Amino acid sequence: MFQSSSLSGTKAEQYAQLLEQARGLMHGERDRVANAANLSSLVFHALPDLNWVGFYFYDGTELVVGPFQGHPACVRIALGRGVCGTAAQTRETQRVADVDAFPGHIPCDSASRSELVVPLYAGERLVGVFDLDSPVLDRFDAEDQAGLEAIAHAFIQALDAA
Ligand code: SME
Repeated sequence: MFQSSSLSGTKAEQYAQLLEQARGLMHGERDRVANAANLSSLVFHALPDLNWVGFYFYDGTELVVGPFQGHPACVRIALGRGVCGTAAQTRETQRVADVDAFPGHIPCDSASRSELVVPLYAGERLVGVFDLDSPVLDRFDAEDQAGLEAIAHAFIQALDAA
């Protein structure tokens, strides 16, 4: 049984511990649904002030919701639409302090006030996005972004691992 230990130390140290736990969960497993499901649960329970953590996968046309924790979400998002579609299209993490100020934000959970979306690329291939929502305005800072990008990177690496 996987035992998630609580995080301690500075924020950077906590993200280093969370990354180790994420790697441990994905060790020897390359199934993207399994890894996305476990990562969603790990992060949702480890970090404070989150109301939605999960994945959208690219089906060749648009983003389709994958494993997540939180309330039911919109199923399909076109590339370039909303925070998720923008991250996928621009290949850049979208760190949105106030979702109401983001043009085209797609409200899935009315509780969401801020959002972080990390694009998932395996080389040139779009895999999907890793999306986190918070009920707190300006919940995510640069350290959160770096820590969550490292976890997203580990997810991509696990897909390629034998
Ligand atoms: N708010 C996102 C949609 C997904 S939900 O937050 C789970 C967006 O604008 O792309």
